[in-house]
Amino acid sequence: MRALVAGLCLSSLLAAGLAAGLAAGCSDAAAGGDPLRREFRAAYPAQATPNGRTQRFEIVAAPTELPLVDGHRIRVWAYNGQVPGPTLRVRLGDTVRVQFTNRLPQPTTIHWHGVRLPNAMDGVPNLTQPPVPPGGSFVYEFTPKDAGTFWFHPHVRSSEQVERGLYGVLVVEDAAPAAFTQDVVWVVDDWLLDETGQIFPQFDTPHDLMHDGRWGNRVTVNGRLDTELHVRAGERIRLRLVNASNGRVYLPDFGALDVHIIAVDGLYAAHPIAAAGFELAPGNRIDLDVAFNDYTSARHEIIDRFYAPQPNRLASIVVDGVSDARVSFASPARAWVPAWRDGLRAPITHTFRLNSRRGGEHGIQWTIDDHAFAGHDHAAPPALTMKADRFVRLQFVNESFRLHPIHLHGMFFRLLARNGRSVDEPFFRDTVLMHSKETIDIGLVPLDVGDWMMHCHILEHAEAGMMTTLRVAAD
Ligand code: C2O
Ligand code: CU
Repeated sequence: MRALVAGLCLSSLLAAGLAAGLAAGCSDAAAGGDPLRREFRAAYPAQATPNGRTQRFEIVAAPTELPLVDGHRIRVWAYNGQVPGPTLRVRLGDTVRVQFTNRLPQPTTIHWHGVRLPNAMDGVPNLTQPPVPPGGSFVYEFTPKDAGTFWFHPHVRSSEQVERGLYGVLVVEDAAPAAFTQDVVWVVDDWLLDETGQIFPQFDTPHDLMHDGRWGNRVTVNGRLDTELHVRAGERIRLRLVNASNGRVYLPDFGALDVHIIAVDGLYAAHPIAAAGFELAPGNRIDLDVAFNDYTSARHEIIDRFYAPQPNRLASIVVDGVSDARVSFASPARAWVPAWRDGLRAPITHTFRLNSRRGGEHGIQWTIDDHAFAGHDHAAPPALTMKADRFVRLQFVNESFRLHPIHLHGMFFRLLARNGRSVDEPFFRDTVLMHSKETIDIGLVPLDVGDWMMHCHILEHAEAGMMTTLRVAAD
């Protein structure tokens, strides 16, 4: 038996690359004969590899007034007085230490969306920590296991707190970053402004709840209608898009630009993917490789076409002059992503049914398996317990006509099928958009023990019940 285990381990090391195999601690041995688990190999490491350096940040959440959208002063809630909040930039291996202070009139927390971290740092009120009261503080400390684009936002009354402006970006750079000439973050959000130009002060309205959440009447990139990025011909930039909207989905159209997706929801894809047609749902991130080889001078408008009758201008890229720094390097999109072609043959671990019904404090509830989540449910048993380090197939049936971007905390998954038809997405996700009446299947290998939230990232749907907990238990 010993020899057999060693043999498996060795073959996975050869196949997955020595460093990745070592980082995973040769956990193939534990997977026994499960070929889907074996195919996962060391797609991403089980453990962080701290480099000994700690990056300290201070974040204060407080009400303020800022010139936003078209420059008009808007009363918002902000991290460190900015909307979007600060972009925290660290290197893979760095430990992130955030001293957080709440100066809001409500309790809050910070959730680190997409970051695989210890459960106690996940920022879920009453489940992983007590909510931080007004005037209170909390220290978040963790070492990210993955390089990529992540974001952070409150997990208390998030349909109100995120909408008021509380969100920021966490960029974890590779230990040796590729030689992009610029690394740019674009946070996409929409705003529902009233006739005075202020944030419409009613949240979770019956209209928002019955539809796809709160969709605003202004669409901004980095808080402005007029965001413009200047580049020179010859540049090759990394553009990180984050959808921080409560409910709006974007379908970015880059026109004639040469744009490839290199990472989705933080993690690198197996290979670069043409960017056209990617639906950026609330919570989703895409990292783009944009090359400006063929243009000496031009202006490119980036347009959202998710709702075709009403396209939204997101931002412009202006190519101005020629760069002498001609860059050439291999795309960093070359991750090991299991194809899991046999994933649909695996037994379904659980089928979640998503629906709505009348009732509750908002008049409508959004349900998972006929249950609408309420705060006290944090103490209830989880909807599903999964064993760590085992392949799991989950199915979701959208019994409603509305959109549901389903998000899992603490783990990544691969989309296996839509409506029973297998799909080939060469990347992992932490959020996947489900359309009206659609059924999807996902495959995953949970690694981190703990209780993790699973919810719709249309924040009004989550607020009205479409949320639950998944437990990952040690084997
Ligand atoms: Cu951005 Cu619980 O999520
Ligand atoms: Cu939903």
